[in-house]
Amino acid sequence: MEILRHAVVLVHLVGFAVLFGAWVVEAIGQRRFTRIMSWGMVIAAVAGIALAAPWGISYELNYVKLGTKLVILLVIGALLGIGTARQRKNGSVAPALFWSVGILTFVNAALAVLWR
Ligand code: HEM
Repeated sequence: MEILRHAVVLVHLVGFAVLFGAWVVEAIGQRRFTRIMSWGMVIAAVAGIALAAPWGISYELNYVKLGTKLVILLVIGALLGIGTARQRKNGSVAPALFWSVGILTFVNAALAVLWR
């Protein structure tokens, strides 16, 4: 069970890497939302929700932290959705939307690592 949980953590980290990596590429490039960002978010979300259940561990989960991460993830999803739709219409995404996605993704990773 423990090894399976570690495998799911690995998938969760891959989702984070895909979302944040795709965002960094765009931050130094055209500053547009891409499908890869949404894919990374979905991978991180599915694996994160699976990890939010207490299986394969012998310690208590921090549900306040997990709730905070879930709310932030929902905001990232909403921003990506709104931004992608506007980008389709106007050809560009508002800087506030673009930077918020990167900052919030970074905040969620920081919460995961720093809030014990
Ligand atoms: C974009 C959104 C997210 C990012 C960037 C992110 C990032 C991370 C990172 C970097 C870790 C590894 C931390 C470590 O092992 O020290 C982690 C672990 C974890 N994440 Fe997330 N996460 C996100 C969303 C979520 C969501 C929505 C949930 C569930 C509600 C969640 C639940 C967890 C859990 C339970 C762990 C710990 C795994 C363990 O040690 O058993 N994550 N996350």
